[in-house]
Amino acid sequence: MMRLYVPRDAAALAVGADEVSLELQKVAASRGISIEIIRTGSRGLCWLEPMVELATDAGRVAFGPVSTEDVPSLLDAMSANDPHPLSQGLTDEIPWLKRQTRLTFARCGIVDPRSVEDYRAHGGYKGLGRALSLTPEAILADVTSSGLRGRGGAGFPTGIKWKTAADAKGDRKFIVCNADEGDSGTFADRMIMEGDPFVLIEGMTIAAITVGATKGYIYIRSEYPHAVEAMNAAISVARRAGTLGTRIGGSTHNFDLEVRVGAGAYVCGEETSLLESLEGRRGLVRAKPPLPAHKGLFGKPTVINNVLSFAAIPFILAEGPKAYADFGMGRSRGTMPIQLAGNVRHGGLFETAFGITLGELIDDIGGGTFTGRPVRAVQVGGPLGAYFPRALFDTPFDYEAFAARDGLIGHGGIVVFDDTVDMAKQARFAMEFCAVESCGKCTPCRIGSTRGVETIDKIRRGERVTENLAVVEDLCNTMKFGSLCALGGFTPYPVMSALKHFKEDFGPAPTRLQAAE
Ligand SMILES: Cc1cc2nc3c(=O)[nH]c(=O)nc-3n(C[C@H](O)[C@H](O)[C@H](O)COP(=O)(O)O)c2cc1C
Ligand code: SF4
Repeated sequence: MMRLYVPRDAAALAVGADEVSLELQKVAASRGISIEIIRTGSRGLCWLEPMVELATDAGRVAFGPVSTEDVPSLLDAMSANDPHPLSQGLTDEIPWLKRQTRLTFARCGIVDPRSVEDYRAHGGYKGLGRALSLTPEAILADVTSSGLRGRGGAGFPTGIKWKTAADAKGDRKFIVCNADEGDSGTFADRMIMEGDPFVLIEGMTIAAITVGATKGYIYIRSEYPHAVEAMNAAISVARRAGTLGTRIGGSTHNFDLEVRVGAGAYVCGEETSLLESLEGRRGLVRAKPPLPAHKGLFGKPTVINNVLSFAAIPFILAEGPKAYADFGMGRSRGTMPIQLAGNVRHGGLFETAFGITLGELIDDIGGGTFTGRPVRAVQVGGPLGAYFPRALFDTPFDYEAFAARDGLIGHGGIVVFDDTVDMAKQARFAMEFCAVESCGKCTPCRIGSTRGVETIDKIRRGERVTENLAVVEDLCNTMKFGSLCALGGFTPYPVMSALKHFKEDFGPAPTRLQAAE
């Protein structure tokens, strides 16, 4: 019996993983070869998808990118143990994977996401087991000393957030997972939900027993149907396995989970807007205070964290906070699942300790641009993140180092652009995005972004460029200091960074582009 692994991850499905899986079955059957196909998540090497793996005595061997036409020759080579042009060798020895420190994504692409037995066999539920033997105070101490900061964007210390909810009085408490993942170039939440859903369930369950919550929601964007399916399937399995529902793991704790699907608004990723949406209302941002930890979902104390924040918890509990905190630099502890996207040769998920430089990530790991042209700019941290030129590629991946250069690491998404990018157009896009996605509650964001689009248009037409550049700067300051939430408050970052680092693009004729052609 030949055992094969084919990802069911959305990125792999988009390039034909289902068709490859069917073809493997069909051709194997016609040749009388006995095979077993296990559908996994993705290992995160997107340019090799669909990546098929074969179990061997030495470990799994990878082949990719596999198309249906490759299947007959692939099965021939696999059965005869012959070399094949698509072979990447032992998966774990692929340098791109070998250079990573996979703590959160340790099982992603390896386990069967529908099997709790497989999860346990790969160290799953060890963290919950330990958490159940500890007091809430002891769990809080572990989460705090791990140094974990929220991976959703703001980098707020998770231990402090949980303690606030634990100390808050309430007849009911909730755990909410923010799986809206709206940032450009990001897909880590989706990947982990599709590839290792139990790690999220385990992390949320540990949060629940720590703060005394009995109910949790996972708010997933509607564009992620495969993640919704994977999470719902895993929740049912976990209930049957006794790790969700009443008397979790034989303890006195009760906790259950439900998936809720968003309707497609970027602002619904903002935590208070998400809570409004969960309660059945329009996604309008709430003023803070009160903090969600005091008065959150349905007015009750609520822990709301990003998928990756919860998914880091099982490792911290299982291996101890020091094992996590030993990685990283400064106040950025542990690892960050970085997502390389846009015009990049080797795009995918690269989990590594904080401290790696932007240049290493783009040039070395990402291999430069997909088009082969020089890298001109990268946007880090989603649509509200700054554009960095090559001159800033020595910036280490660290919350404070990015902030010191007027940037943010956000959810760890990096979008690469080559030298054909028009940065004035990108600045306009930032304002336009804000105008389209604004919840409309406050004036600087609602009106400022529309005025921003108009003014950048004037600059691009060459109308009173100097005066209009001053207007853009003024608008940016008003938005930055006068907006209620980070949508309006951070839109100035991509705009101002484009202006600061790529000033030559702002003006009438796109002279640089003509020169490049
Ligand atoms: C406009 C806007 C969109 C956001 N989108 C997301 C998102 O898609 N996912 C996410 O986890 N956090 C998002 N956030 C951050 C959340 O408000 C919040 O800080 C986060 O869910 C807290 O979890 P963490 O502490 O684990 O990071 C967004 C914030 C803003 C202002
Ligand atoms: S900044 Fe924009 S999205 Fe945020 S509350 Fe104000 S109008 Fe709404």
